[in-house]
Amino acid sequence: MKLIIALCSALLLSLSVAASADPIIIKYSHVVAENTPKGQAALKFKELAEKYLPGKVKVEVFPNSQLYGDGKEMEALLLGDVQIVAPALAKFGKYTKKLQVFDLPFLFDNIHAVDRFQRSPTGLALLDSMEDKGIIGLGFLHNGMKELSANVPLRTPEDAKGLKFRIMSSDVLEAQFKALDANPQKLAFAEVYQALQSGVVDGAENPWSNIYTKKFYEVQKYITESDHGVLDYMVVTNAKWWNGLPADIRKGLAKAMKESIAYGNKIALNDAADYRAKVIAAHKAKVIKLTKAQKAEWRKAMKPVWAQFEPAIGQDLINAALEANKPQKK
Ligand code: LMR
Repeated sequence: MKLIIALCSALLLSLSVAASADPIIIKYSHVVAENTPKGQAALKFKELAEKYLPGKVKVEVFPNSQLYGDGKEMEALLLGDVQIVAPALAKFGKYTKKLQVFDLPFLFDNIHAVDRFQRSPTGLALLDSMEDKGIIGLGFLHNGMKELSANVPLRTPEDAKGLKFRIMSSDVLEAQFKALDANPQKLAFAEVYQALQSGVVDGAENPWSNIYTKKFYEVQKYITESDHGVLDYMVVTNAKWWNGLPADIRKGLAKAMKESIAYGNKIALNDAADYRAKVIAAHKAKVIKLTKAQKAEWRKAMKPVWAQFEPAIGQDLINAALEANKPQKK
């Protein structure tokens, strides 16, 4: 009898050890294609997290809005149905107004200025701007500067008048197109191709990697190299989940995240020209370059948006972002 009891308890013990040794499942959901900076960063995170924490974590990556699309992914994160998402900075308006700074048109001269701002103490503090909502920022991730596109050539701000433009769910972007007397329509990313194809909207604003990988160039006749704003991301997690992880797991995941972001950022900074070249090589949409004077007109038309959102964002934050346009002194 004693032997049976001993065997049973040994069996129970081994079962519970096996159960506690089950890997923690981490779902990372996003809306873009795998061959984009974000898609690649997510896959790199999986590779590194599973390497640093063998048998302890299993990362499942869901690209292309497969699991959750816009609108649903943040809700799912807060409900604990997904552990990591990386929405565009434009999509956090419900949780903080501070990140609206990134949507102000013509605030940043280029992606390098954006990078400097994100690395500055003011920029880094934004990662904690949604903690009271239960959201922790794990890092900023680049995509790139946005280009305008439409079925008519957009050379001056007047060309956009009366056209319908798809926008992300951002009040700043809404104001930006209203400043042009155009009609902005908030639509989920997964609906953009169809909306452009069917004429539900006439135009859009996207970085080159999204224009290429989602084939928007097939359904837009013209792409204007406006670089009028930035489309970057914040990789975020559920604060309760993150803080409840065993310390060694959190440490390993933080390391994997940092390195995966560096990897994605390198792709974003180095490959924007390649995505652009591929769009041009497809010979579908015509790329319009703006003269300096034309660009100045777009800036003048969109700039009034800053004053509208300055009270919510804060002048200090806008000034800190402008400061990043000055290359650092060596
Ligand atoms: C968009 O909705 O246009 C982007 O946020 C998609 C993305 O994640 O790059």
